[in-house]
Amino acid sequence: MKLIYQQMLAFLAVIATVLILLGLSFSKSTRTMVYMNTWSTMEKYANSLVEQSVRVSSQDNGRVTFDTNALESSELLLQNQSVHFTVYNAKNTVTFPDNVNTAKISATDWRKLKRGEIVHKVSDRNMRLQNGQTQPAMTDVLKPYFYTDSHNKRRLIAVVKVGSFISDINTNINQINKNLIKPLIISSLVALGIAFLLASFSNSRINRLRRATKQVSEGNYDVKLKTKHRDEIDDLTNDFNGMIKSLKESQDEIKRQEERRRTFMADAAHEIRTPLTTINGLLEGLAYDAIPEESKDQSIKLMRNETKRLIRLVNENLDYEKIRANQIGLNKQEFDAVDALNNLVEQLQQKAEAKNDTLELQIPKQISVYADYDRFVQIMFNITQNAIQFTDNGQITINAQRGFEESIFKISDTGIGMTSEQLSNIWERYYKADPSRRNTKYGESGLGLAIVHQLVQQHNGKIEVTSKPDAGTTFTIIFPDKFQSKNS
Ligand SMILES: Nc1ncnc2c1ncn2[C@@H]1O[C@H](COP(=O)(O)OP(=O)(O)OP(=O)(O)O)[C@@H](O)[C@H]1O
Ligand SMILES: [Mg+2]
Repeated sequence: MKLIYQQMLAFLAVIATVLILLGLSFSKSTRTMVYMNTWSTMEKYANSLVEQSVRVSSQDNGRVTFDTNALESSELLLQNQSVHFTVYNAKNTVTFPDNVNTAKISATDWRKLKRGEIVHKVSDRNMRLQNGQTQPAMTDVLKPYFYTDSHNKRRLIAVVKVGSFISDINTNINQINKNLIKPLIISSLVALGIAFLLASFSNSRINRLRRATKQVSEGNYDVKLKTKHRDEIDDLTNDFNGMIKSLKESQDEIKRQEERRRTFMADAAHEIRTPLTTINGLLEGLAYDAIPEESKDQSIKLMRNETKRLIRLVNENLDYEKIRANQIGLNKQEFDAVDALNNLVEQLQQKAEAKNDTLELQIPKQISVYADYDRFVQIMFNITQNAIQFTDNGQITINAQRGFEESIFKISDTGIGMTSEQLSNIWERYYKADPSRRNTKYGESGLGLAIVHQLVQQHNGKIEVTSKPDAGTTFTIIFPDKFQSKNS
């Protein structure tokens, strides 16, 4: 069933229940009210009947007499209003009218009357009288009257029963009920109309969501629905917007990864093909004796270099994969990094000089670090080598200092720097900011920083880089101390 019909049905059920309850309680209270009114009028009739016709003699031991003439004239008068009455004496005997064969008041009612209670009776069904006639359904009021003598003694002197036909009362009630039905129908129609408007409003909002979902499933991730933060549907719309945003992001990420995978494959193939082509060319030259005797040594040297380059490439790739898969065992220990850094500078000094760079060490006398010694050297070596590689006639500074429960190393250069777009990619395998710089004399493969990044992560450390094109680059590597490293 469509949601709008479900909602309408729910509304209808609520409206119907409320209206039925209201109608029932209203008609019940109307009925009670009409009866009360009738009874109160009948009591007043009884009072005036007693006033007119009952006499209590003050001398004759309080003898009670009934004025039949007065009662007869009252009877005529009240008959016109469809009101009938019977007067009983203190012994529960009918005193008036004497021609009717009226039954005595029941013992229960008589007891109540003697206690001074007024008895109201409603007989819903027509009654068959003793003389064979049927009497239409009536409601009666039985009211006792008492006399208090000079000794302050109270005694029952008469009971008046006043009755009226129920049909007359019911006519009144039916009229009131009829008057009630019209507004009830109108109000239920209005309520239904409002329910329909409300239901179709929330339905239109759900349909808007449905249309948007369809668009997304067709591949359009630029959908954004407006919300007013009012209710649950708005919350759902917000969640939907959030979901589309992350879907779009992951879709972009998938595309980026795919792109990266493609370049990785192309780069890897390229990196391997270049040395292989060189080796192959030289081997063919040797095979066909096309290389002069004096160049043979040089050719073999070239082949060995290229083979080494290939081996390095394969090893580094394997290394990267191992680190990434957490397959390398790190022999972490606390050591003084001063010697390691001095060695590093010594090793790279020549390369720096070749590029006319000054390589400077700014470190305290002692700097303890918690790391795998070889991997620490590998990290520092790679970054410093990069700094030399991308700096001509500049300055490279290696700075080390202690932080709070950590060792901080900064390697800054005044080289070519990188744009923010280049910076965001440097941890990727085979990424080279400037592809034209492939195969320079250091044999770059774009693996160095990818490995460094993985290694720093394995040390629970942090690596950050700031760079400005043509101004220089600073790499900051933080190694946490033993205690910190274990907690993180
Ligand atoms: N100090 C730096 N200044 C400018 N660019 C840098 C610097 N360090 C790294 N880069 C850029 O980041 C890229 C990736 O560096 P990475 O060390 O991973 O590769 P590589 O040096 O080209 O090759 P490899 O280190 O594997 O021999 C470099 O090609 C370069 O474009
Ligand atoms: Mg490098």
